[in-house]
Amino acid sequence: MNFDTDFLIIGSGIAGLSSALKLAKYGTVTIITKRNLPDSNTAHAQGGVAAVFDPKDSFEQHIQDTFLAGAGLCHPDSTRLVIEQAPERILELLDLGVRFTETSSGKFDLGREGGHHFNRIVHVKDHTGYDIEQALVKAAKEVSNITILENHAAIDLITEHHIFSLDRAKDSHLHCWGAYVLDSKQKTVKRILSKATILGSGGCGQVYLHTTNPAIATGDGVAMAFRAGAQIGNMEFMQFHPTTLYHPEAESFLISEAIRGYGARLVTKSGESFMKNYHPMGDLAPRDIVARAIDKELKRRGEPCVYLDVTHKAASDIIDRFPHIYEICKNYKIDITKEPIPVVPAAHYSCGGVVTDLNGQTSIDGLYACGEVACTGIHGANRLASNSLLEALVFAHQASLAAQQFISDNEFSPPPIPHWDDSGTFNSEEWILISHDKLEIKNLMWDYVGIVRSNHRLERALSRIRLIRQEVENFYRRTKITEALLELRNLTTVAQLIIKSALLRKESRGLHSMMDYPKTDDENYKHDTIIQQHEF
Ligand code: SIN
Repeated sequence: MNFDTDFLIIGSGIAGLSSALKLAKYGTVTIITKRNLPDSNTAHAQGGVAAVFDPKDSFEQHIQDTFLAGAGLCHPDSTRLVIEQAPERILELLDLGVRFTETSSGKFDLGREGGHHFNRIVHVKDHTGYDIEQALVKAAKEVSNITILENHAAIDLITEHHIFSLDRAKDSHLHCWGAYVLDSKQKTVKRILSKATILGSGGCGQVYLHTTNPAIATGDGVAMAFRAGAQIGNMEFMQFHPTTLYHPEAESFLISEAIRGYGARLVTKSGESFMKNYHPMGDLAPRDIVARAIDKELKRRGEPCVYLDVTHKAASDIIDRFPHIYEICKNYKIDITKEPIPVVPAAHYSCGGVVTDLNGQTSIDGLYACGEVACTGIHGANRLASNSLLEALVFAHQASLAAQQFISDNEFSPPPIPHWDDSGTFNSEEWILISHDKLEIKNLMWDYVGIVRSNHRLERALSRIRLIRQEVENFYRRTKITEALLELRNLTTVAQLIIKSALLRKESRGLHSMMDYPKTDDENYKHDTIIQQHEF
């Protein structure tokens, strides 16, 4: 059978674009992205990329800090792989033109964030992700082997599920041969056949009411891979960023942890600093601990937010280091050089995702995953700050080496694959159902599956999400596909995966804090939570 592209890349953030640039040397690459090329979670990342560049620092110390944050679940092999490759991958970004902030002596200006015992965050002031994304987009547009399809949303991966009955597919070893893709502008569905497919579709923060993630972060990759039969791991570990701007119009704007690394302190309304009561690292404790401490203080005091105070630093220096945060807060009439910033936690990063090995290989042949969509083992139960862009870079590298090897070793010979068939579906006017269901999911996840959980809340969330999922699936089967419907379907699946995973872990560990089981139970739960469709 003919193929359309050697490599299909789903997503255009740091993971997707860096894989594309590497794979374009070995074959044709097609990138599909739901909106425009630079629209990604990456572009919103403020902090930076963690890496050992200070001669006093060491890989071992970075590994230890990652393990400490990860609360016993980080995989030693993937953690070492990522941390040891970090300097090399960052120098590649430098070659692509990313101008990381330097000291007056021309070295990287290494910042600090929660959980790190050394200054090791390579950054571009407070807009690192934006600058990296711009450099990758520019480079990708210059490569003739790369075709970019904007406004194209993946519907489903093409695997045995589309060809055989579910039962037969369950028993066979699965392969991925590409994806069905919605061209949102033309309102048509394309069947894109590829020799290897790379998922770099980012996270799922939109499943929560309050999130630092942009609207596109709807868990599409995890939901598609799950439907295709891939192993999904550790979805209970949703990271809540401790500090997002508390303002009625600000939509959880991120206030980078780098500000605390620079010396800002978390205080209550009356100016009392409280983090030393929770952890010896105080304001620079790992993120799960800080988010829980804030949650506790808010509940204890009945107050809507805490404050981040950086006013003891020189105004000119604050503005020079954090120009983006300064400007955005100023737009909301908050001068961060003169007054504390009101902050609350919000959903930020999914530590779980599609399970991969050290080569980014998923449990489905020909399907690779990298970036936030993947669960590679490095983040364990709580990701260390600024290890995410790094993990995406390293696993994009690993996955591109493996995918290139895969297509040179394997002939492309799938069984006949049908074109998309939407006969029997109709254009629905019932769009209110989509926005209502979406809001209901976001509210129930925020209220019942948030920073602190209980069996009772999780069970309640599960029974409600099951109903919503059934309704959405019925609607999906009868209706012509739109991007909003796809996103709703994916959000529903991801919500159920998070709730199910949370129910399976009957202990508290890292980001998963259970009122019914306040202790960590190494004897029974020092392992990943893996879910597959046939067990759901
Ligand atoms: C931040 O700048 O605080 C976010 C960085 C990260 O999520 O690692």
